Amino acid sequence: GTTQPTALVIFGIAGSLSRRKLLPAIYDLANRGLLPPDFFLIGMDRPTAEHTDFVLPMLDAVTTHARTPLRERTWRWLRDRFRFIPGDFGQETPFIALKETIASAERRNGIPAHHVYYLSTPPSCYAPVAEQLRRHGLADARGGARSLLIAEKPFGYDLASARALATALRRAFPGGRILCTDHYLGKEALRNITALRFGNTVFEPLWNRRHVDHVQITLAEDEGIGGRAEYYDGAGAARDTMQNHLMQLLALTAMDEPRTFDHDTVSAEKTKVLRAVRLPSDLDTYAVRGQYTRGRQHAAPVPGYQQEEGVAPGSTTETFAALKVEIDNQRWAGVPFYLRTGKRLRQRVTEISLVFKNAPTAFTGESHRNPPNVLSLQVQPRQGVELRFGVKVPGSTTDIQDVTMGFDYGESTLPPVPGEYESLIADVLRGDTTLFPSRPEIEHSWRIIDAAREHWSRRGRPEPYAPGTWGPAAAERMLRSDGRAWLRSGTDTSADQR
Ligand code: BG6
Repeated sequence: GTTQPTALVIFGIAGSLSRRKLLPAIYDLANRGLLPPDFFLIGMDRPTAEHTDFVLPMLDAVTTHARTPLRERTWRWLRDRFRFIPGDFGQETPFIALKETIASAERRNGIPAHHVYYLSTPPSCYAPVAEQLRRHGLADARGGARSLLIAEKPFGYDLASARALATALRRAFPGGRILCTDHYLGKEALRNITALRFGNTVFEPLWNRRHVDHVQITLAEDEGIGGRAEYYDGAGAARDTMQNHLMQLLALTAMDEPRTFDHDTVSAEKTKVLRAVRLPSDLDTYAVRGQYTRGRQHAAPVPGYQQEEGVAPGSTTETFAALKVEIDNQRWAGVPFYLRTGKRLRQRVTEISLVFKNAPTAFTGESHRNPPNVLSLQVQPRQGVELRFGVKVPGSTTDIQDVTMGFDYGESTLPPVPGEYESLIADVLRGDTTLFPSRPEIEHSWRIIDAAREHWSRRGRPEPYAPGTWGPAAAERMLRSDGRAWLRSGTDTSADQR
């Protein structure tokens, strides 16, 4: 029930995910009064010279990264509910302390607490932490309380390792639920996809192969890999953002309507569609990868991937990936989905565009050009929906020109959009797991990515591309071979997409 106290335990509280995302989101939720009254926060990590109780680093994280400004009262409320447990995840002592901390809070309240364990650690610690929780009797939910274990991505590095990890976690944490986060599913514009599709009548009738020519999904970043070479060089774009974020965007866009909007039913629909995803046979054309070179971006000189600190000399890790996939079902047969993602591209933009078939009868006008209708679901930085259609150019002409009609959260009178981790954490605290990818979704996504990577492993090096472009030339060729082109994403108005 909602009166039940909730213990949120962050393993790896001193790490960067926790400092940049989790703690600020928890503070923002507190500021908006959205945490349960009997909430308490426990953080475990190795002790450092910087602090003994993690209070100052937490204040710093909240001050620097929260969306809402620091309010003394909220901060004190949170600090009073916070306890830091120094220790190594391999040792017994911190878990004994954890058990005692939770038990004493439960004694105070007289009822068992929901246990929410957030694994904000390197993946190699996931199973050991879960195993410690089991050994100390912390994994089981009692007296109507929930026990949740939340793992951050990456969840495995291929299908086999994802399966092994899921099995190890299940064995170590038999009593409770295991969730894997995909922070894209916390983004409001993504949460809107189901509402847009199924809460309206005008879109869904068009959402199929009779009307849609193809779908483009872009997740582009203008940043390089920053200081993350140690992780990124062993991952690459396909594993970093395609296996999870892009596949979830695809699943939400392509799935059939779930009968009810609970976790199992939504996940069953997403799984069904991911299972139907097939790669084309000609992967030389339809599986593209690239790596950024040294160059200029936003007018400033930037290093190439090979020059980034920590990247292995001669690394063949891709920083750009594009794939064409097809979906073998009634709704989508013959409608290609083109996916692309990468670093150091022209601009930061995530969007899904449905490109509709050309009008069958020709009001083509004098220009004989009848631009297709496009419906774009804009995830970021602009958050909204845009429909592109043609109007007659005014005056004595029958030419048609593209115009757009749009909705933008930022310009609307709707309540402000919460941060992605705020939404995800609020969900888990409420026990709503609808928007957490399930094991079969994750495994089907790996199946697709593994097949593309297997192909690449037999093909030399990724194709170089200059920073500030839309990736390697092969990504343009991929659509051109199908008589199509990438849409201009974001606010890019350059004539040449590349
Ligand atoms: C993460 C990737 O999952 O998503 C990063 O590991 C990437 O490489 C990030 O930059 C993008 O997320 P967002 O929310 O900034 O678009």
